[in-house]
Amino acid sequence: MNKLIVNGKNKLYGKVDVKSAKNAMLPLIAACVLLDFEVGFLNCSKVGDVTVMLDIIKCLGGKYRYEDDTLFVDCSSLYIPELPCELSKKIRASVFLLGPLLARFRKVSAVTPGGCNFGDRPIDMHLDALRKLGAEISGKEHLYLRADKLEGAKITLPFPSVGVTENLIMAACLAEGETVILNAAKEPEIICLCSFLNRLGAKITGAGSYKIVIQGVKKLTKKITYFKPISDRIEVGTYLLATLNTGGEIEINGANFIHNVAFIKKIYNNACKIAFESDKIYLKCCGVGNGLGLVKTAPYPSFPTDLQSPLLAYACSLNGKTVIEEGVFKNRFSIVNELRKMGAMIEVSGTKAIVLGTNFLTGAILNACDLRSGAGLIIAALGAEGVSEIVGVDVIERGYFEIDKKLKLLGADVSKG
Ligand code: UD1
Repeated sequence: MNKLIVNGKNKLYGKVDVKSAKNAMLPLIAACVLLDFEVGFLNCSKVGDVTVMLDIIKCLGGKYRYEDDTLFVDCSSLYIPELPCELSKKIRASVFLLGPLLARFRKVSAVTPGGCNFGDRPIDMHLDALRKLGAEISGKEHLYLRADKLEGAKITLPFPSVGVTENLIMAACLAEGETVILNAAKEPEIICLCSFLNRLGAKITGAGSYKIVIQGVKKLTKKITYFKPISDRIEVGTYLLATLNTGGEIEINGANFIHNVAFIKKIYNNACKIAFESDKIYLKCCGVGNGLGLVKTAPYPSFPTDLQSPLLAYACSLNGKTVIEEGVFKNRFSIVNELRKMGAMIEVSGTKAIVLGTNFLTGAILNACDLRSGAGLIIAALGAEGVSEIVGVDVIERGYFEIDKKLKLLGADVSKG
């Protein structure tokens, strides 16, 4: 059952709920390593990457349980500062555990993480940042980190990396003195992590800006029972694009419009009407839109790289040209060859993909090479003539919970096979 069979050209109508963001949940679970009590996270979906992260926590001696869609994580009995090899290789986010484990145990052993397959994804910035807090690091494939004590430092990141900013924040919470992170990532997931840590007694200011300041504390002692993570802005974007590509009308519940502004600006008034109200976004399609001109991905608040492949898939069916420039990852166009199998006209030159809209994609046998390109292929298949088979549903389910069922409820002809 690792295939998704999509019969295209059904319009999407109805309501879809979006839950807590995968990219918020992963660092939040890592942050639980800093606590010796249980915390509940509201509104969680069991996406693949979160499940792997929880299994890693279990291997370290922690516990987790679900009550409906509330996830409880308890790291009070954590005793092993050694990341399990096989599980860590499955998700890039296992690297987020280095900072908090180092803060708790003063030593960690780990393998270099795995994750989505879009080129080289080094962890040099993570390691350099932790070194600046006092970690001594040895090994290459197998890493050993040790710090008799962690001391605050002023650290300027060469790039506003989301994961490095999160790792550093978590380690610096329990370091001695003040840590200043310059060129910090500004993503909503960073603000979410800092809100969580501050509620537990951390002293962090500046989250969401270029400069984050953390005053180290001895322990995070303020107990909280529940925390509500932000919703998944990439999932929101994916359902909006799926509907734009088929036509129809949907309401997304649990969305944060502000987090999606850069994306919504690109699709706004292009053969569709979009409105929002509290945590809902409404979309009504009216015809085929025009090419989107230049879309450049960059760190937040710019257009998110995680919506690049889904947007590329949608751009194939527009009237006219869209140029997509990838500004975060060097090699994130694995979707292109798959879309070409469907008849898409796309030229790639370095970090740019030039999409010549056609409106005539036809179903094909496709490979979900990575999570977001898999989501893009679903979008393309929903709008294409005929049947597509997308191989690698497990890759897509790393970040989308029951996407087949949600799309079916909206009227798509989708099944697992
Ligand atoms: C996070 C998101 C991912 C998203 C990405 C960029 C999670 C779990 N994942 O990934 O979905 O696509 O942000 O928004 O939150 N880099 C280095 N060395 C390092 C670390 C990063 O060179 O040590 C480079 C990366 O290769 C990339 C850039 O920095 O080119 C940004 O990556 P980063 O922001 O760190 O992405 P992640 O935190 O891994």
